[in-house]
Amino acid sequence: MDKNLMLERAEILVGAVDDLPTIPVVATQVIQMLDDPDVSVEEIADLMLTDQVMTARVMKLINSPVYKPAHEITSLRRALVYLGLRHIRELALTTSVIGAFDADSGAIGLNLFWEHSFGVGMVSKIIARKVGYEDLEKAYIAGIIHDLGEVFLSNYLREPFQEVLDKIKSHPIKLVDAEADMLGTTHCEIGLCIARKWNFPEVYCEVISCHHNPGRATIDPILSAIVNLADLFCTVRELNYGGSQWISFNLNEEEAWSILKKASPALAQLDEERFCYELDDAVPDVKELVASIFNSTERVNP
Ligand SMILES: [Fe+2]
Ligand SMILES: [Fe+2]
Repeated sequence: MDKNLMLERAEILVGAVDDLPTIPVVATQVIQMLDDPDVSVEEIADLMLTDQVMTARVMKLINSPVYKPAHEITSLRRALVYLGLRHIRELALTTSVIGAFDADSGAIGLNLFWEHSFGVGMVSKIIARKVGYEDLEKAYIAGIIHDLGEVFLSNYLREPFQEVLDKIKSHPIKLVDAEADMLGTTHCEIGLCIARKWNFPEVYCEVISCHHNPGRATIDPILSAIVNLADLFCTVRELNYGGSQWISFNLNEEEAWSILKKASPALAQLDEERFCYELDDAVPDVKELVASIFNSTERVNP
């Protein structure tokens, strides 16, 4: 189906929703503040502490297996110093996206959704390291937010989207193709519309739009290819919204794999089986991380 038509349809669907969640004002302010090279940790911490929910989620992420601090970090200021300001923009973005969609009333359970998203984030980071991608953090964040459009479909087009989910359980068809057939658009175009509304940086908009067709990406095709492969791995490792189990893939037939091999010739020597075992090791960490983010709302020290 024509990509422009699907984008038009997505714009209509997203535009028709009056109560589309917004991301917190504090997050937008933090993101803008970080453009100032003279900004201090103190200033950022003071601003972030005005949003307890965001602060609590930042603390959860910092103490998660992804960052692995040697000792638990309990103060936001220490967390910001530990991470460095460079990463705060990404954290503000991620935690805001989590916060925007926290009503568990959609066709996909929120836990399943975030398990998939954080799974793709963590696997993206592992793949990014393998291919020598320069910004591991960016790969992680891109993985987490890649399926933003699914939450919209799940919450605002609940019934037709449930039909799509039912269809893929019993037919050998990919979710994204079933969406195009049955809804006239996909989570990629929907996600792009939302990301633009939220003023996400262009590179993340592109991943959201192109993660099922990394060859279409122009700003950073390697990043879209990384997320695409991470998505495939998670799909065959049961981090796929509890969806169909029949899916398998052959790395050598994937467009993403040829994009990455071109960028990193060392990948040709990769032991695929060992690599998959390595990725399997990340699965329990993902489940633990998602459980810890959503099952605790304790307050943190400034
Ligand atoms: Fe997707
Ligand atoms: Fe996905």
